[in-house]
Amino acid sequence: ALVSMRQLLDHAAEHGYGIPAFNVNNLEQVQAIMEAAAQTDSPVIMQASAGARKYAGEGFLKLLIQAAVDSYPHIPVVMHQDHGQSPEVCQGAINLGFSSVMMDGSLMADGKTIASYEYNLDVTQQVVKMAHKLGITVEGELGCLGSLETMKGDKEDGHGAEGTMTREQLLTDPEQAADFVKRSQLDALAIAVGTSHGAYKFTRKPTGDILSVQRIKEIHARLPNTHLVMHGSSSVPQELLAEIRQFGGDMKETYGVPVEELQEAIKFGVRKVNIDTDIRLAMTGAIRRFMAENPAKFDPREYLKPAREAAKKVCLARYEQFGTAGNA
Ligand code: G3H
Ligand code: 13P
Ligand code: NA
Ligand code: ZN
Repeated sequence: ALVSMRQLLDHAAEHGYGIPAFNVNNLEQVQAIMEAAAQTDSPVIMQASAGARKYAGEGFLKLLIQAAVDSYPHIPVVMHQDHGQSPEVCQGAINLGFSSVMMDGSLMADGKTIASYEYNLDVTQQVVKMAHKLGITVEGELGCLGSLETMKGDKEDGHGAEGTMTREQLLTDPEQAADFVKRSQLDALAIAVGTSHGAYKFTRKPTGDILSVQRIKEIHARLPNTHLVMHGSSSVPQELLAEIRQFGGDMKETYGVPVEELQEAIKFGVRKVNIDTDIRLAMTGAIRRFMAENPAKFDPREYLKPAREAAKKVCLARYEQFGTAGNA
């Protein structure tokens, strides 16, 4: 059934587990997530980014997710709008039937200018007001995603802050977070702790100087009852990079967020863990392998099938690793 995100996050907090929130853009990704959830008895959060809405059209995404809900009636599914850039965008998703929305007021509606605290609070309050009347969950974001190695915002997907940022902007302040949660009344708070979107997060396996699990602990100590969200949480598995390279891909050395760090974060209040890149890498590796090994094949179903299998493997692993399995 389609459920609110609040319902799933409350259960996750009560039982101390995390839920991966997977980005979806097409049929095969939706199917992979549902097959993995059914196999592990896991609750599901599927989310549509601005890029996904542009690629597939939000009407298609909505009905793909609705088809998943109908096909797996025993699994709770959240249809979440990822990174809404304005209250109007969130309103649009609510009108379409999404059960959860993110108002990302950490950036202005252009998606690259860092917003003031007052602006962020104002737009988040507006969305809470319209959403809560309808039982829809609201995620907000405080702090800007970006790299503590380069002090720059997300480059790759083009929706990060422009220019150089300060350490204060790249790490959510616990006191400010407490004020933000109290005054906005949101349901889940995305925090900045050194992760960024995309495959190129860290140039080395991250340690505390560039990925601050310590900061999560400080925020959780100040806000023990707030559901925290970690964006940019792909682990960028080295074996997937190796497969892509082995079959002709050209990807630089790079590191993601180690699963052990995500598990540690889950112990300290992180309930929603956003993952897009790992599924992209898995599908690309599988397709590259298939193409290289089967140069005469041309039916898209033949290469999308192993791609879907590879995506499913990522989902199965995260459902087990985050303790989501068994909680549907
Ligand atoms: O929000 C970040 C996600 O990885 C989605 O990125 O806008 O390229 O779909 P996208
Ligand atoms: P990754 O790029 O690390 O998968 O993060 C996805 C994300 O945060 C979507 O909002
Ligand atoms: Na989100
Ligand atoms: Zn994100």
